[in-house]
Amino acid sequence: MAPISASKILTTKMFSQLLLLSTCSILMHYNSSEATFQPPQTTEMVLYFQDYGAGPNATFSTVAGIAGKLWTFTQFGTVYVTDDPITETPDPTSAMVGRAQGMYVISALDGSTSHAMFSIVFTNRAYNGSTLQIQGTGQQLEVGSEYSVVAGTGKFRFARGYVKFETIYVDAPRAYSVIRCNVTVRLD
Ligand SMILES: *[C@@H]1O[C@H](CO)[C@@H](O)[C@H](O)[C@H]1NC(C)=O
Ligand SMILES: *[C@@H]1O[C@H](CO)[C@@H](O)[C@H](O)[C@H]1NC(C)=O
Ligand SMILES: *[C@@H]1O[C@H](CO)[C@@H](O)[C@H](O)[C@H]1NC(C)=O
Repeated sequence: MAPISASKILTTKMFSQLLLLSTCSILMHYNSSEATFQPPQTTEMVLYFQDYGAGPNATFSTVAGIAGKLWTFTQFGTVYVTDDPITETPDPTSAMVGRAQGMYVISALDGSTSHAMFSIVFTNRAYNGSTLQIQGTGQQLEVGSEYSVVAGTGKFRFARGYVKFETIYVDAPRAYSVIRCNVTVRLD
């Protein structure tokens, strides 16, 4: 049987409907192929947390713990609050990038993990007023301990990704340390 030419069986109305449908599908196809050519917007940052654990200007402090236990880094249930300045280089006098504000809870019975709940609040020119939300449990005693970035605000709306921590300097008598925080986020 010979194929029937479409132009012979289509009324004008049907034809225009078909044309509309195919235009829509071309537009949809165009949009989706456009999207596949868009590389994910990945932002990487290396930040330095200036962590002062003692003295009148402490930026990291124990606020709660299990009664009768020592409230330490390795004791399950210890709660810390933090408002660490964040700088551009390990030098505490280098340019300010923002602050790490929130809390940590030692979340494993053996003290190996800590649950982080804090925001990186940017004050530098590029991201002033924007935040990243860090949340989750990480192997706090391991180098490169990883926590997730679950959200963001301002220039980081819809952000997700991860951070990796590494303590790169410790001055035990002053309870001062510098923690490098490598941030990888996507806004797609
Ligand atoms: C604490 O901060 C205050 C106000 O900035 C400053 O005057 C003081 O010297 C600081 N104290 C120490 C021990 O760093
Ligand atoms: C960040 O924003 C605040 C409030 O809008 C403003 O006072 C401050 O100068 C800004 N800082 C930078 C580095 O742009
Ligand atoms: C963080 O980034 C620095 C600079 O790129 C790199 O040298 C370091 O190994 C990274 N640390 C981790 C834990 O990934």
